[in-house]
Amino acid sequence: VFSTVEMAPRDPILGQSEQFNLDTRPVKANLGVGVYFDDAGRLPLLACVQAAEKAMLSAPSTRGYLPIDGIAAYDNAVKALVFGADSEPVQSARVATVQAIGGTGGLKIGADFLKKLSPDAKVLISDPSWENHRALFSGAGFTVDSYAYYDAEKRDLNFDAMLASLNAAAAGSIVVLHACCHNPTGYDISPGQWDQVIAVIEARGLTPFLDMAYQGFGHGIAEDGAVIGKFVAAGLNLLVSTSFSKSFSLYGERVGGLSVLCTDKEQASRVLSQLKVVIRTNYSNPPTHGAAVVAAVLNDPELRALWERELAQMRLRIKAMRQQLVAGLKAAGVRQDMDFINRQIGMFSYSGLSRAQMLRLRNEFGVYGTDTGRMCVAALNPQNLAHVCQAIAQVLEG
Ligand code: LMR
Repeated sequence: VFSTVEMAPRDPILGQSEQFNLDTRPVKANLGVGVYFDDAGRLPLLACVQAAEKAMLSAPSTRGYLPIDGIAAYDNAVKALVFGADSEPVQSARVATVQAIGGTGGLKIGADFLKKLSPDAKVLISDPSWENHRALFSGAGFTVDSYAYYDAEKRDLNFDAMLASLNAAAAGSIVVLHACCHNPTGYDISPGQWDQVIAVIEARGLTPFLDMAYQGFGHGIAEDGAVIGKFVAAGLNLLVSTSFSKSFSLYGERVGGLSVLCTDKEQASRVLSQLKVVIRTNYSNPPTHGAAVVAAVLNDPELRALWERELAQMRLRIKAMRQQLVAGLKAAGVRQDMDFINRQIGMFSYSGLSRAQMLRLRNEFGVYGTDTGRMCVAALNPQNLAHVCQAIAQVLEG
């Protein structure tokens, strides 16, 4: 039965880590996957997480099945974080939120739900987008197209082209948008540009699906989430997938969520019932630990304040690394202007390097980024920076 199974290619992102782990060279840097490491190159275990876990250990809990939609205190905390605790949608109970297995899980629950609802709709993702968006929505049975976003020549956004593509989209298309810290380019649209995108979405009758995997890594938690308020103000329905992998450094706990902004409370309860069917038929119900930790932190004022400070430290360290990368590239002899890296935001830099150059970086210097030229700035540190800069300089100028 398995004789015709073909070998699938390595995952374009996680496959980099697989290869990196097999690489025995002493000097190497994994800038492939979107993971934050601290100045010492270590994956942080946040103090707010440790405090919550300590409290949990002193009052150990049993591990029965969770409700299909997850821990209620967690779902409420996600709602409050995404929409605002006192916001009208939360107050009028018109948001359906479910716990999900990471941000990817939130996207997949949303995709399966939408496929049943609008089987013929097309999904539009940005060009380029997170590598897994196309695969995930195609896997859910959708035809996936893209809307313009990035101008490789200018190394900048192409906002006019983005608006034009959205204006040309068929009514009912599902548009996947990055709420903040665009992955992979690092270029976000401005608040004023969001207003224009929202106007087109409304005029064309498109369904917005926001991927918010990096809230807090751009300008701040509230600032990065502000776009949600714009959709609410426009009176649109909306799906938002949330991830705490990065913002809580809880990658392996797979803590995420999906929130669906509905028209009223009664509609939200029908939507929730359908989300639960999707979850039940995929993995029954979610795991306990990660969501319990996040709920404990978000629902405790002191731990929440600690989390916000720790997240701000991560955000500021990435910014500092961007500046040092630009300076280091110059010092290493790169003649072209690399200052665009400082205009990018979030964990990534779309470096503009070609596939061949990225392969050289990997093969000759042990510097891993994706084939499309994305590098994770959040994995740079004072120990690996000089090597990375010299490697990029060799590839660009050598
Ligand atoms: C990334 O883009 O590197 C992260 O979101 C990790 C992943 O799952 O791809």
